[in-house]
Amino acid sequence: MNMERLKEVLAQARSETGKVIIGQHEVIERALICIFTGNHALVEGVPGVAKTLLVRTLAHVLGADFARIQFTPDLMPADITGTNVFNLQRNEFSLIKGPIFTSFLLADEINRAPAKTQSALLQAMQERLVTIDRETHSLPANFTVFATQNPIEYEGTYPLPEAQKDRFMLKISMTPPDRAEELLLAQRTMTRDAPETLLAQKVVRPVIKAEDLAELREGLAAIVLREELVAYLVDIVRATRTHESVLVGAGPRATQSLIMAARAQAAIAGRDFVTPDDIKTMASPVLEHRLILRPEFEIEGLTVTEVIQQILQQIAVPR
Ligand SMILES: Nc1ncnc2c1ncn2[C@@H]1O[C@H](COP(=O)(O)OP(=O)(O)OP(=O)(O)O)[C@@H](O)[C@H]1O
Ligand SMILES: [Mg+2]
Repeated sequence: MNMERLKEVLAQARSETGKVIIGQHEVIERALICIFTGNHALVEGVPGVAKTLLVRTLAHVLGADFARIQFTPDLMPADITGTNVFNLQRNEFSLIKGPIFTSFLLADEINRAPAKTQSALLQAMQERLVTIDRETHSLPANFTVFATQNPIEYEGTYPLPEAQKDRFMLKISMTPPDRAEELLLAQRTMTRDAPETLLAQKVVRPVIKAEDLAELREGLAAIVLREELVAYLVDIVRATRTHESVLVGAGPRATQSLIMAARAQAAIAGRDFVTPDDIKTMASPVLEHRLILRPEFEIEGLTVTEVIQQILQQIAVPR
């Protein structure tokens, strides 16, 4: 896909999403970065900031088949993957596929289910394969998971295991709208233009066909990332492993994610080359959820965001 077409698709995707979602521009960009690079996203925010609505809207923008799993404390792994059921008439087992057999999956409130159920998503996210009763089934090539969660301090939640978090390319944090946006939301809610109504009326048009996604990814992979910048990016990820206040740093998957994210960020800005700023902008959403701070620093009130800022200040930007 050439640069012009790539720019056009990205711009259309932003404006279509913006028909339903008010504001949240950075959030929308990051969500599109995940989708268009073929990766999974963890969407975090307090109740009512439109996490679920965003993912439902994105499904329309993609024109992809979509399923939603509401995670609850009693959800079982088989509720996600499916089960073999004995068919009396045919005298054999037949597979009843679970909701995971889709292209675009909303794993809503993922931290409300225990670890065993959460990890039913693991293999699927990494390998796009599902194993049921020792038999392996493939998922669509574009299988993408957007998981939402409330911030972990909330009661009755099970924090995601580290291995699970590493499989998300970005953590997308959603904050409440500013006053002007909230006013617009209030006004729309009183008319026929309420966000949910607009979505139900199918005002959102798909911007790309599933078959074209592969081509779009090739276009992104052609975005120039100079050798010095690759080294810069690798050094940023590696610094998370040696920083004094970090207990567990980011693994090599973070390096791969940062490369893809920086390229997509460049494309969204309409450039066919990555700048140091693209890398700096994407460092936080790529790295934050993968770091665990040493408890003594955490108690002092240090945050992962601050640690990443410190790292970015320490590492010299190549010219
Ligand atoms: N930025 C926004 N644009 C459009 N609608 C919004 C926005 N913020 C909030 N809303 C409205 O807020 C309501 C709540 O959205 P939604 O259910 O997606 O929240 P949520 O973040 O998933 O909440 P929860 O954590 O409780 O599941 C929606 O009905 C939507 O109309
Ligand atoms: Mg929700």
